[in-house]
Amino acid sequence: MENTSGAQRGSLLLLLLLNFLLCKGAASLPICPNGAANCQVSLRDLFERAVILSHYIHNLSSEMFNEFDKRYAQGRGFITKAINSCHTSSLPTPEDKEQAQQIHHEDLLRVVLRVLRSWNTPLYHLVSEVRGMQEAPDTILSKAVEIEEQNRRLLEGMEKIVGQVHPGIKENEIYSVWSGLPSLQMADEDARLFAFYNLLHCLRRDSHKIDNYLKLLKCRIIYDSNC
Ligand SMILES: *[C@@H]1O[C@H](CO)[C@@H](O)[C@H](O)[C@H]1NC(C)=O
Repeated sequence: MENTSGAQRGSLLLLLLLNFLLCKGAASLPICPNGAANCQVSLRDLFERAVILSHYIHNLSSEMFNEFDKRYAQGRGFITKAINSCHTSSLPTPEDKEQAQQIHHEDLLRVVLRVLRSWNTPLYHLVSEVRGMQEAPDTILSKAVEIEEQNRRLLEGMEKIVGQVHPGIKENEIYSVWSGLPSLQMADEDARLFAFYNLLHCLRRDSHKIDNYLKLLKCRIIYDSNC
Protein backbone atom coordinates (compact mmCIF):
# COMPACT_ATOMS: atom_id res chain seq x y z
CA MET A 1 0.00 0.00 0.00
CA GLU A 2 3.07 2.24 0.08
CA ASN A 3 2.29 3.79 -3.29
CA THR A 4 -1.35 4.30 -2.59
CA SER A 5 -2.27 7.97 -2.55
CA GLY A 6 -4.56 9.44 0.04
CA ALA A 7 -7.34 9.79 -2.51
CA GLN A 8 -7.05 6.17 -3.53
CA ARG A 9 -7.04 5.08 0.06
CA GLY A 10 -10.08 7.24 0.65
CA SER A 11 -12.02 5.65 -2.18
CA LEU A 12 -10.95 2.21 -1.04
CA LEU A 13 -12.34 2.99 2.39
CA LEU A 14 -15.52 4.29 0.83
CA LEU A 15 -15.86 1.09 -1.16
CA LEU A 16 -15.38 -1.02 1.95
CA LEU A 17 -17.90 1.07 3.82
CA LEU A 18 -20.41 0.82 0.99
CA ASN A 19 -19.89 -2.90 0.87
CA PHE A 20 -20.49 -3.10 4.57
CA LEU A 21 -23.62 -0.96 4.38
CA LEU A 22 -25.00 -3.00 1.50
CA CYS A 23 -24.36 -6.14 3.45
CA LYS A 24 -26.10 -4.77 6.51
CA GLY A 25 -29.05 -3.56 4.48
CA ALA A 26 -29.21 -6.86 2.71
CA ALA A 27 -29.19 -8.83 5.93
CA SER A 28 -32.78 -7.82 6.59
CA LEU A 29 -33.70 -9.49 3.31
CA PRO A 30 -32.67 -13.13 3.22
CA ILE A 31 -29.65 -12.51 1.00
CA CYS A 32 -26.76 -13.52 3.21
CA PRO A 33 -26.90 -17.01 4.65
CA ASN A 34 -27.76 -16.96 8.35
CA GLY A 35 -24.88 -15.84 10.46
CA ALA A 36 -22.59 -14.98 7.56
CA ALA A 37 -20.64 -11.80 8.19
CA ASN A 38 -20.45 -10.78 4.56
CA CYS A 39 -22.65 -11.05 1.50
CA GLN A 40 -21.13 -14.07 -0.15
CA VAL A 41 -24.25 -15.28 -1.86
CA SER A 42 -24.99 -12.96 -4.74
CA LEU A 43 -28.08 -13.20 -6.89
CA ARG A 44 -25.91 -14.70 -9.60
CA ASP A 45 -24.62 -17.40 -7.25
CA LEU A 46 -28.12 -18.14 -6.01
CA PHE A 47 -29.25 -18.64 -9.60
CA GLU A 48 -26.23 -20.78 -10.46
CA ARG A 49 -27.03 -23.05 -7.54
CA ALA A 50 -30.74 -23.15 -8.31
CA VAL A 51 -30.08 -24.16 -11.91
CA ILE A 52 -27.62 -26.89 -10.89
CA LEU A 53 -30.08 -28.14 -8.27
CA SER A 54 -33.08 -28.18 -10.60
CA HIS A 55 -31.08 -30.02 -13.23
CA TYR A 56 -30.03 -32.56 -10.61
CA ILE A 57 -33.63 -33.01 -9.44
CA HIS A 58 -34.82 -33.50 -13.00
CA ASN A 59 -32.09 -36.06 -13.63
CA LEU A 60 -33.04 -38.01 -10.48
CA SER A 61 -36.75 -37.81 -11.35
CA SER A 62 -36.10 -39.16 -14.85
CA GLU A 63 -34.00 -42.01 -13.54
CA MET A 64 -36.53 -42.86 -10.84
CA PHE A 65 -39.32 -42.90 -13.42
CA ASN A 66 -37.29 -45.11 -15.76
CA GLU A 67 -36.49 -47.57 -13.00
CA PHE A 68 -40.08 -47.76 -11.88
CA ASP A 69 -41.25 -48.16 -15.46
CA LYS A 70 -38.83 -51.00 -16.12
CA ARG A 71 -39.59 -52.79 -12.90
CA TYR A 72 -43.35 -52.41 -12.45
CA ALA A 73 -45.03 -50.96 -15.51
CA GLN A 74 -43.97 -53.23 -18.36
CA GLY A 75 -46.90 -54.36 -20.47
CA ARG A 76 -49.53 -52.65 -18.33
CA GLY A 77 -50.28 -49.87 -20.79
CA PHE A 78 -49.92 -47.14 -18.14
CA ILE A 79 -48.51 -44.50 -20.46
CA THR A 80 -51.75 -44.18 -22.42
CA LYS A 81 -53.69 -43.42 -19.22
CA ALA A 82 -51.15 -41.02 -17.76
CA ILE A 83 -51.73 -38.09 -20.11
CA ASN A 84 -52.67 -34.80 -18.44
CA SER A 85 -53.69 -36.00 -15.03
CA CYS A 86 -51.22 -34.34 -12.68
CA HIS A 87 -52.25 -32.53 -9.52
CA THR A 88 -50.40 -29.50 -10.85
CA SER A 89 -52.36 -29.50 -14.13
CA SER A 90 -54.67 -26.84 -12.70
CA LEU A 91 -51.73 -24.41 -12.41
CA PRO A 92 -51.17 -22.45 -15.60
CA THR A 93 -47.64 -23.33 -16.73
CA PRO A 94 -46.07 -22.41 -20.06
CA GLU A 95 -45.61 -25.48 -22.25
CA ASP A 96 -42.34 -24.58 -23.96
CA LYS A 97 -39.56 -22.01 -24.13
CA GLU A 98 -41.50 -19.78 -26.55
CA GLN A 99 -44.50 -19.63 -24.23
CA ALA A 100 -42.27 -19.07 -21.20
CA GLN A 101 -40.55 -16.18 -22.97
CA GLN A 102 -43.89 -14.40 -23.30
CA ILE A 103 -44.35 -14.36 -19.54
CA HIS A 104 -43.04 -11.56 -17.36
CA HIS A 105 -40.31 -12.88 -15.10
CA GLU A 106 -42.21 -11.94 -11.96
CA ASP A 107 -45.06 -14.22 -13.04
CA LEU A 108 -42.68 -16.96 -14.07
CA LEU A 109 -41.09 -16.83 -10.61
CA ARG A 110 -44.58 -17.22 -9.14
CA VAL A 111 -45.16 -20.27 -11.32
CA VAL A 112 -41.91 -21.81 -10.08
CA LEU A 113 -42.79 -21.22 -6.42
CA ARG A 114 -46.28 -22.66 -6.89
CA VAL A 115 -45.09 -25.79 -8.62
CA LEU A 116 -42.29 -26.40 -6.10
CA ARG A 117 -44.67 -25.92 -3.17
CA SER A 118 -47.24 -28.19 -4.76
CA TRP A 119 -44.71 -31.01 -4.61
CA ASN A 120 -43.85 -30.79 -0.90
CA THR A 121 -46.71 -32.98 0.29
CA PRO A 122 -46.72 -35.62 -2.46
CA LEU A 123 -42.94 -36.04 -2.18
CA TYR A 124 -43.23 -36.54 1.55
CA HIS A 125 -45.85 -39.26 1.05
CA LEU A 126 -44.03 -40.78 -1.89
CA VAL A 127 -41.07 -41.47 0.38
CA SER A 128 -43.16 -43.10 3.09
CA GLU A 129 -45.21 -45.17 0.64
CA VAL A 130 -42.17 -46.42 -1.27
CA ARG A 131 -40.59 -47.28 2.06
CA GLY A 132 -43.66 -49.36 2.87
CA MET A 133 -43.65 -51.27 -0.41
CA GLN A 134 -42.94 -54.98 -0.28
CA GLU A 135 -39.25 -55.47 -0.94
CA ALA A 136 -38.87 -51.67 -1.06
CA PRO A 137 -36.69 -51.05 -4.08
CA ASP A 138 -33.55 -49.34 -2.74
CA THR A 139 -32.60 -47.41 -5.85
CA ILE A 140 -36.10 -45.93 -6.13
CA LEU A 141 -36.35 -45.20 -2.40
CA SER A 142 -32.98 -43.47 -2.20
CA LYS A 143 -33.90 -41.26 -5.15
CA ALA A 144 -37.27 -40.37 -3.65
CA VAL A 145 -35.57 -39.39 -0.38
CA GLU A 146 -32.99 -37.30 -2.21
CA ILE A 147 -35.56 -35.57 -4.41
CA GLU A 148 -37.73 -34.68 -1.43
CA GLU A 149 -34.79 -33.08 0.34
CA GLN A 150 -33.43 -31.27 -2.72
CA ASN A 151 -36.86 -30.00 -3.70
CA ARG A 152 -37.10 -28.34 -0.30
CA ARG A 153 -33.63 -26.84 -0.71
CA LEU A 154 -34.53 -25.53 -4.14
CA LEU A 155 -37.71 -23.97 -2.78
CA GLU A 156 -35.69 -22.24 -0.04
CA GLY A 157 -33.23 -20.97 -2.62
CA MET A 158 -36.02 -19.70 -4.82
CA GLU A 159 -37.57 -17.91 -1.86
CA LYS A 160 -34.23 -16.14 -1.33
CA ILE A 161 -34.10 -15.18 -4.98
CA VAL A 162 -37.66 -13.89 -4.93
CA GLY A 163 -36.85 -11.97 -1.74
CA GLN A 164 -34.17 -10.11 -3.69
CA VAL A 165 -35.89 -9.68 -7.01
CA HIS A 166 -39.56 -9.29 -6.09
CA PRO A 167 -40.01 -9.02 -2.34
CA GLY A 168 -43.66 -8.19 -3.03
CA ILE A 169 -44.46 -11.76 -3.99
CA LYS A 170 -46.32 -13.30 -1.09
CA GLU A 171 -44.83 -16.07 1.01
CA ASN A 172 -48.08 -17.97 0.86
CA GLU A 173 -48.75 -17.97 -2.84
CA ILE A 174 -51.42 -20.48 -3.72
CA TYR A 175 -50.34 -23.92 -4.69
CA SER A 176 -52.09 -26.99 -5.92
CA VAL A 177 -53.28 -29.37 -3.23
CA TRP A 178 -52.47 -33.03 -3.76
CA SER A 179 -55.13 -35.53 -2.79
CA GLY A 180 -53.51 -38.63 -4.22
CA LEU A 181 -52.54 -40.45 -1.03
CA PRO A 182 -55.51 -42.90 -1.06
CA SER A 183 -54.63 -43.91 -4.60
CA LEU A 184 -51.07 -44.80 -3.53
CA GLN A 185 -52.59 -47.06 -0.89
CA MET A 186 -55.21 -48.88 -2.95
CA ALA A 187 -55.50 -52.59 -2.39
CA ASP A 188 -55.75 -53.32 -6.09
CA GLU A 189 -52.17 -53.74 -7.25
CA ASP A 190 -52.71 -52.59 -10.80
CA ALA A 191 -54.49 -49.41 -9.68
CA ARG A 192 -51.89 -48.72 -7.00
CA LEU A 193 -48.94 -49.18 -9.35
CA PHE A 194 -50.63 -46.92 -11.86
CA ALA A 195 -50.98 -44.22 -9.18
CA PHE A 196 -47.23 -44.44 -8.49
CA TYR A 197 -46.45 -44.46 -12.18
CA ASN A 198 -48.60 -41.39 -12.76
CA LEU A 199 -47.07 -39.49 -9.85
CA LEU A 200 -43.52 -40.22 -11.02
CA HIS A 201 -44.48 -39.29 -14.56
CA CYS A 202 -45.83 -35.94 -13.33
CA LEU A 203 -42.72 -35.36 -11.24
CA ARG A 204 -40.49 -35.92 -14.24
CA ARG A 205 -42.62 -33.56 -16.31
CA ASP A 206 -42.75 -30.79 -13.68
CA SER A 207 -39.06 -31.04 -12.78
CA HIS A 208 -38.28 -30.63 -16.48
CA LYS A 209 -40.44 -27.52 -16.65
CA ILE A 210 -38.87 -26.02 -13.54
CA ASP A 211 -35.41 -26.70 -14.93
CA ASN A 212 -36.27 -24.92 -18.16
CA TYR A 213 -37.94 -21.97 -16.45
CA LEU A 214 -34.96 -21.47 -14.14
CA LYS A 215 -32.47 -21.48 -17.00
CA LEU A 216 -34.60 -18.89 -18.74
CA LEU A 217 -35.05 -16.78 -15.60
CA LYS A 218 -31.32 -16.84 -14.94
CA CYS A 219 -30.63 -15.52 -18.43
CA ARG A 220 -33.26 -12.84 -18.19
CA ILE A 221 -32.56 -11.62 -14.66
CA ILE A 222 -28.78 -12.00 -14.51
CA TYR A 223 -27.77 -11.45 -18.13
CA ASP A 224 -30.79 -9.49 -19.36
CA SER A 225 -31.10 -11.75 -22.40
CA ASN A 226 -33.17 -14.71 -23.56
CA CYS A 227 -29.95 -16.77 -24.11
C1 LIG B 1 -28.25 -38.35 -15.08
O1 LIG B 1 -26.92 -37.92 -14.87
C2 LIG B 1 -25.95 -38.94 -15.04
C3 LIG B 1 -24.60 -38.35 -14.65
O2 LIG B 1 -24.36 -37.14 -15.30
C4 LIG B 1 -25.99 -39.42 -16.48
O3 LIG B 1 -25.03 -40.44 -16.68
C5 LIG B 1 -27.39 -39.95 -16.79
O4 LIG B 1 -27.48 -40.34 -18.15
C6 LIG B 1 -28.43 -38.92 -16.47
N1 LIG B 1 -29.74 -39.53 -16.60
C7 LIG B 1 -30.73 -39.02 -17.31
C8 LIG B 1 -32.00 -39.80 -17.34
O5 LIG B 1 -30.65 -37.95 -17.91
